[in-house]
Amino acid sequence: MLKIIFLFFLVLTQCHYCINGSPVRTVVVLVMENRSFDHMLGWFKQLNPEIDGVDVSAKSNLINATDPNSRRVVFGDQAHYVDPDPGHSFQAIREQVFGSDDTSAIPPPMNGFAQQAFSMEDPDMTQNVMNGFQPDKVAVYKSLVSEFAVFDRWFASVPASTQPNRLYVHSGTSHGATSHIISMLLKGYPQRTIFDDLDDAGVSFKIYFQNIPATLFYRSLRKVKYIFKFRPYGWFFKSDAKKGKLPGYVVLEQRYMDSKANPANDDHPSHDVYQGQLLVKEVYETLRASPQWNETLLLITYDEHGGFYDHVPTPNVGVPSPDGIVGSEPFFFKFDRLGVRVPTIAISPWIQKGTVVHGPNGSPFPTSEYEHSSIPATVRKIFNLPSPPLTKREEWAGTFEGILGKLTHPRTDCPEQLPYPEKIRESEANEDAKVSQFQQELIQLAAVLKGEDILGSKLDNFGKNMTVREGKEFMESAVKIFFEAGLAARDMGIGGDEFVKVRS
Ligand SMILES: *[C@@H]1O[C@H](CO)[C@@H](O)[C@H](O)[C@H]1NC(C)=O
Ligand SMILES: *[C@@H]1O[C@H](CO)[C@@H](O)[C@H](O)[C@H]1NC(C)=O
Ligand SMILES: *[C@@H]1O[C@H](CO)[C@@H](O)[C@H](O)[C@H]1NC(C)=O
Ligand SMILES: *[C@@H]1O[C@H](CO)[C@@H](O)[C@H](O)[C@H]1NC(C)=O
Repeated sequence: MLKIIFLFFLVLTQCHYCINGSPVRTVVVLVMENRSFDHMLGWFKQLNPEIDGVDVSAKSNLINATDPNSRRVVFGDQAHYVDPDPGHSFQAIREQVFGSDDTSAIPPPMNGFAQQAFSMEDPDMTQNVMNGFQPDKVAVYKSLVSEFAVFDRWFASVPASTQPNRLYVHSGTSHGATSHIISMLLKGYPQRTIFDDLDDAGVSFKIYFQNIPATLFYRSLRKVKYIFKFRPYGWFFKSDAKKGKLPGYVVLEQRYMDSKANPANDDHPSHDVYQGQLLVKEVYETLRASPQWNETLLLITYDEHGGFYDHVPTPNVGVPSPDGIVGSEPFFFKFDRLGVRVPTIAISPWIQKGTVVHGPNGSPFPTSEYEHSSIPATVRKIFNLPSPPLTKREEWAGTFEGILGKLTHPRTDCPEQLPYPEKIRESEANEDAKVSQFQQELIQLAAVLKGEDILGSKLDNFGKNMTVREGKEFMESAVKIFFEAGLAARDMGIGGDEFVKVRS
């Protein structure tokens, strides 16, 4: 009798590690900053020819895309430390992808990277954007790509900057943003998020942050009931992992601010890729040593390409607008094409060694691709969430739970340690540097959280003249004030769906 029940159980569930058909119960997401696929992983084609990267018959761009006699800049393998930041505004990306402001080419020629960089009048920029890392320079990725899965057709969701792309990661839309919109920031972006869907379905989540959680750009996450979902990374990530207490969905946020004691580790130029590699190494080794390792999936991606060259044409046919919202003037962007290809690596003991994932093969729609909305789409499948897709874009995006279904047992040969990366930047963090635009945006978020009135004409410039040191201090104190207010609100019995508001 026992035997019959056992057999019946096996037939019913097939995979006895699985719940809802997936062996994964914890999904960890880490979004790095501003690097293209070819820049980080293009030369990995030398290690595995199946990867759609670059090789010695290298790719190139003319310095003037419409003048065949202009200088040709060949994509090299000498990527090094980059400062300042290449162009990655909506207009700059349009020029990189199409060589001009005419966006009608199908597929886009990807021929304006050198030209756009040349126009920035920095003598090194043109070659900087036309360079990729030798695999040994990014040794942590070299190990992860050979051990687990690399996606060589994963695109930024929008051909625009950090904020809109980061918003797609957890909500499948930027709610019309093609750049940083301060008025939206004040209220918080209003769209529903995967966090809400997970919470409704009783799946736990946590955000482990460092200087400031950029996920607070979503209005929804400012609710009193979510206040305990935020945890300082340094105090809690390793200990939660060690105790086997990581929740179902884990978001890790890097240090976006550079300091001498704690250098930034988000890979955003001018930050040192070495620090980003150290962070990835630490996160991997922490998860690998956790009792939860056998049910964990770690996904590492990049918000956008940061102005660096990539040779794969950005998809511009059959890409649905998430919600029909049209971008603001002067572009009135319809969200009908994706951004540039970015590096994405998936890590789990359920993934076969050396997997290369190309496109989603016409599923769920003939034109579907992998892009940041693939994250909520796949999370929905892994946890079998009953709610519908957040947006039309999420519904369209490829899902990748299939790469977890090829083995009958978790692998036992995954490395416990990754190599130490090579130090790239020779100087120390420059705490007196002026903040970058992304950092300024985070400072503005901090001001809003802190209840500071930054409305009116001061708005655009708020935070602009701060140094990195001042910005970091401002952010960290604002975050503290915000969470204290959240805890106080909760103790006063304020409803969980109310928003935390600080009045100053
Ligand atoms: C690029 O070349 C075209 C055609 O020769 C010319 O009209 C244009 O002015 C050039 N652009 C720049 C920025 O030099
Ligand atoms: C990269 O960094 C810049 C500058 O900090 C930031 O404004 C942007 O949102 C990020 N992404 C791109 C594509 O620039
Ligand atoms: C993971 O599964 C493997 C194979 O079943 C087993 O040998 C190993 O002890 C498990 N590890 C953990 C942390 O449970
Ligand atoms: C930045 O500007 C504000 C006024 O807008 C001023 O109070 C502050 O001292 C300035 N900070 C620096 C470092 O210049």
